Amino acid sequence: MSQCRVCNSNYEPFINFGPQPIANGFIPEEKSNDEYFFEMKVGHCENCNMVQLIDQPDREKMFHGEYPFFSSLSKHMQVHFKNFAETVTTRFLTQNPNPFVVEIGCNDGIMLKNFAEKNIKHLGVEPSENVAKVAEEKGIRVTSRFFDYDLAAETRDKFGPADAILSANVICHIPYIDSIFSGVEKLLSEKGVFVYEDPYLGDIVEKTSYDQIYDEHVFFFSAISVSYLSEKFNLELIDVEAQPTHGGSMRYYIARKGAYQPAENVAKLITKEKELGLDKPETFERFRANVEKSREDLVGLLKKLKNEGKRVVGYGATSKSTTVLNYCNIDRELIEFISDTTPLKQGKVSPGKHIPIKPYESFKEDFPDYALLFAWNHRKEIMEKEGDFSANRKWITYVPEVQIF
Ligand code: SAH
Ligand code: TYD
Ligand code: ZN
Repeated sequence: MSQCRVCNSNYEPFINFGPQPIANGFIPEEKSNDEYFFEMKVGHCENCNMVQLIDQPDREKMFHGEYPFFSSLSKHMQVHFKNFAETVTTRFLTQNPNPFVVEIGCNDGIMLKNFAEKNIKHLGVEPSENVAKVAEEKGIRVTSRFFDYDLAAETRDKFGPADAILSANVICHIPYIDSIFSGVEKLLSEKGVFVYEDPYLGDIVEKTSYDQIYDEHVFFFSAISVSYLSEKFNLELIDVEAQPTHGGSMRYYIARKGAYQPAENVAKLITKEKELGLDKPETFERFRANVEKSREDLVGLLKKLKNEGKRVVGYGATSKSTTVLNYCNIDRELIEFISDTTPLKQGKVSPGKHIPIKPYESFKEDFPDYALLFAWNHRKEIMEKEGDFSANRKWITYVPEVQIF
């Protein structure tokens, strides 16, 4: 029995992925015999409907001065965050002569850059010092700490209330969710908005994209659970907007209760989620069966290709790939190497299964027969630039099902 981080009810896991390493813990080969693993299990609280990891490693193991994820490496994501900034500005900030914008987990400044360039008062909160430094170099004001209630109170004292608190792919990383929501409540101005987006539970279930489950992602949100969570802190979910990023995300708009009339979208999405069964244990039992089938299909295909003497490499050393490789027990016998554009990952080996990570040039110089697309969420962007490969070779994906294309 575990206790729900949101409502304290007891709940049980519905799936166990076995021992998993730190998903972004790319390591030099020589240090690879001394890795940290944790048992990765996921459960659904039947009271508040939050889906969550049972255990999560300590935050310092995941977020530190050598964090290897740099948001701005994707050109499509740069456009996405420019649009995110514009949407929030147009909808909530234009009436305000001197708005203050805070971002939780600003990484290399991909979103705040758009505010800094317009001289809008802002603050980025980013505990991973190396990525925070890249944001600072872009002229963004950053504090390299973990956001929580204390930091929110301190920020309000120092800079005044925030008119917009923004976050993307971060709130789902933070287990001390009470401290986050009470901090937001403390920091927001009277008409202030908290706008955040994360991979969406509905998409994960529908697409069997179980690779969204890894150490950093402790929560898998839905409008049902976010609504519950907001009410607990006297806040209200006032709008929702589906996003195509990270294989299907949801953007949540939250404000003080009564500050805005909630859009019809909220009730509509909650109804849809109930139809989809995101509030029912059977849904997650079915999800588990789908995950097991996905594993069988992928391992079956890779073994078949190996027997035929084909060369397969991975494309994109994503954190998501760590779950797939370790859960499916795929090592360098089946995948020769993984190509990735991040300098900090290159020359190291993948967490747990120790597949070499090579620079993109290694992929270009010596095309394999098949490329397993671990960065499937960037498929459009990658297909745009990999015409040469696609003309004569094949891709493999596993979302929504294992397929050669
Ligand atoms: N917003 C970016 C980065 C997402 S990666 C994007 O969408 O691309 C997650 C980021 O959250 C990491 O940079 C990590 O250092 C940061 N993070 C983790 N815990 C945090 C916390 N408590 N407060 C603020 N940032 C946090
Ligand atoms: P991403 O899917 O954004 O995130 P996560 O780690 O959360 O699963 O990671 C994309 C990875 O793929 C990142 O390491 C950079 C790499 N990449 C490439 O190698 N080539 C590309 O064209 C793109 C878009 C990403
Ligand atoms: Zn609960």
